[in-house]
Amino acid sequence: MSIYSIAIDGPSGAGKSTLAKALAARLGFLYVDTGAIYRTVGLYVARQGGDCSKEEDVLPCLKTIDISMEYGEDGLQHMILNGEDVTADIRKNEVSRYASQVSPIPGVRAFLLDMQRAMARENSVIMDGRDIGTVVLPDADLKIFLTASVEERARRRHKELLEKGQEIPFETVKEEIAQRDYADTHRAAAPLKQAEDAVVADTSSLNLEESLELLQTIVKERLKL
Ligand code: DC
Repeated sequence: MSIYSIAIDGPSGAGKSTLAKALAARLGFLYVDTGAIYRTVGLYVARQGGDCSKEEDVLPCLKTIDISMEYGEDGLQHMILNGEDVTADIRKNEVSRYASQVSPIPGVRAFLLDMQRAMARENSVIMDGRDIGTVVLPDADLKIFLTASVEERARRRHKELLEKGQEIPFETVKEEIAQRDYADTHRAAAPLKQAEDAVVADTSSLNLEESLELLQTIVKERLKL
């Protein structure tokens, strides 16, 4: 049986994880959420009392961190940090900030690279992140750059936070997304950018079902699956 890899990159809130998860379920591929791995590193550093934006605080933590991914019967990816399931904790708003702070550190990216590549060597994957098509899986069978306007992404994120009981003003959410976009696209190490051979999918005016249909059409056309 052939092993396929699909890379989905794009800014925060474009719908990458929801869509990649749904697409993976339809194709029978493993869904790998790489943002969750950066979140787990950020959570660990913060729990150790470190400042996530300081390389000298972050790098020593990599010596004592043990991260693994487990897939439940539901097919969902669980993040295990030193034996503890932190899947819910890494979704907190402050952890988005920690992840964004640790992710520009080259030592962190190098530490996580093998782990991500190993997943794609052993399984057909849909992997989402910022640098999957450009750095992690440059030979992916299909690369999709998924995007949407800042306004629309902030609306979606705001709704998601409210549903989880986190009441944060819309303008704050929007401002944080704009800041994260800037940080993700301007960092020196593996910045967010569209791979030259990526197909662009803009979901600004599409709902979830329509976005999924768009991605399925792209997969059908490009991979004949
Ligand atoms: O997709 P997300 O919001 O869960 O990602 C959390 C942070 O991790 C975000 O600031 C970008 C960073 N990230 C990264 O640098 N490279 C990836 N492949 C995935 C996420």
